[in-house]
Amino acid sequence: MEKILVLDFGGQYNQLIARRVREQHVYAEIRPYNKITAREIRDEGYKGVIFTGGPNSVYDEHSPHYDPAVLDAGIPILGICYGCQLMAWMGGGEICAANAISEYGKTAFTHRNSVLFEGVPEESVCWMSHTDYVKTVPAGFTVTASTASCPTAAMEDANRKLYAVQFHPEVTHTQYGREILKNFIYGVCGCKGDWHMDDFAQRSIAYYKKKIGDKKVVCALSGGVDSSVAAVLLHKAIGKNLTCIFVDHGLLRKNEGDFVEHTFTKTFDMHLIRVNAQERFLTRLKGVTDPETKRKIIGEEFIRVFEEEGRKIGKVPFLAQGTIYPDIIESGSDNADTIKSHHNVGGLPDVIDFDEIIEPLRNLFKDEVRAVGEALGIPKQLVWRQPFPGPGLAVRLIGEITEERVRTLQDADAIFREELEKAGCDKQASQYFAVLTDTLSVGVIGDARTYGHTVALRSVTTDDFMTAEWTRLPYDVLEKASSRITNEVKGVNRVVYDITSKPPATVEWE
Ligand code: XMP
Repeated sequence: MEKILVLDFGGQYNQLIARRVREQHVYAEIRPYNKITAREIRDEGYKGVIFTGGPNSVYDEHSPHYDPAVLDAGIPILGICYGCQLMAWMGGGEICAANAISEYGKTAFTHRNSVLFEGVPEESVCWMSHTDYVKTVPAGFTVTASTASCPTAAMEDANRKLYAVQFHPEVTHTQYGREILKNFIYGVCGCKGDWHMDDFAQRSIAYYKKKIGDKKVVCALSGGVDSSVAAVLLHKAIGKNLTCIFVDHGLLRKNEGDFVEHTFTKTFDMHLIRVNAQERFLTRLKGVTDPETKRKIIGEEFIRVFEEEGRKIGKVPFLAQGTIYPDIIESGSDNADTIKSHHNVGGLPDVIDFDEIIEPLRNLFKDEVRAVGEALGIPKQLVWRQPFPGPGLAVRLIGEITEERVRTLQDADAIFREELEKAGCDKQASQYFAVLTDTLSVGVIGDARTYGHTVALRSVTTDDFMTAEWTRLPYDVLEKASSRITNEVKGVNRVVYDITSKPPATVEWE
């Protein structure tokens, strides 16, 4: 399989680069720059390497540097932003540092003849985010693009297949970013494009069939897209040796437990055990308000339930989970800060009864998981379901979790979703839900004063969930939802709409 290495120097768009490459049907993997040597890059057969951006200046003593030998390894390289400066610096060029120039945002650039810019108009818009820039390119390089204030917006040494851009082609604000990346992957690296999700599904089924043999697997099924796809994939590999355990922790959306049970037993004829464990979870969560503690408790309790159920089935060497690539990155890799402990990664206790965890989707992005789901024949309404966090409504209930508060949130959430879908807004909204805040406020009904709960409505539009825009929902949809919630849900007298994008906020409130 062809593969491109995204060599991570700590930039914020690193995952996006890998996704953009994979969109072009070439597998890309992200590796921290200090975990792979130039020699390994050559030996592991990468068709090309992309140096990512990063927050540093090449002149900082502690900034990430790399072995210059990689420039002569005969592998095509594309440097992006910091990666561009690093390439110039490694090759003996000159970087102009310290606020001499600062470009941020959409910027017009012009280019000269280069395979990298094939099909790109001579002048177009790119996304810039830098202070340092390449003042003098290294020997053998020529400048191939510039902006009004940046003399080296792109440079190359075509003989050595070394290319670099100061801007970010992976960001959608760069008008022809996709074309530029495609030109690198296909035009420079000579890839043919062999990364397709139906191949992935078939390859994985064959792989797990062989790996698991006739042993048993327990799959943690939440009914969300990721665990559903993982379960169906494994079901196709090992059939009835797969037992799905669906823990209804009582923190699911309204009627969701029944929906999940029906789908997997009736549509897929799987061996499914549903555990109704609300009481158990609520007992452990009693009095807990800290978001990370909630996540850890739920993650732990999940595993305990699985262990207990697993023991009932006999020896179960494998536990399967629907962990995906962003879960792993956002739970804290070498170069990324820990933002939240996703319950299926960070929340795992150290000691569990299973010998091995299987995560068939751990290298996939969300859109790839969906494509695998479609390739596996999972119904569209399940594959395209909006994501739902493992800890469920716990991270949408700010403050303490009680049965009554769960019910209040479920009711408000169901109304909001219903109204949004009825108006056809679910096409523009990638994820939408209600949050029960811990704010009480004064209201009035008839002539009487009320002192009730505040529900926040959240809807985001995104294709990767790493960044997200708040959805511009029509006022009348919001009004209808607000009016129905305050009328129909007992104890709620105020509804607000969350107009924060990610960053700076996250999608979930906790
Ligand atoms: P955040 O809140 O981190 O959410 O911006 C990004 C996406 O991830 C979902 N999410 C989770 N999914 N386990 C999951 O499987 C979790 O612990 C978890 N926390 C957040 C969230 O719903 C959004 O789609």
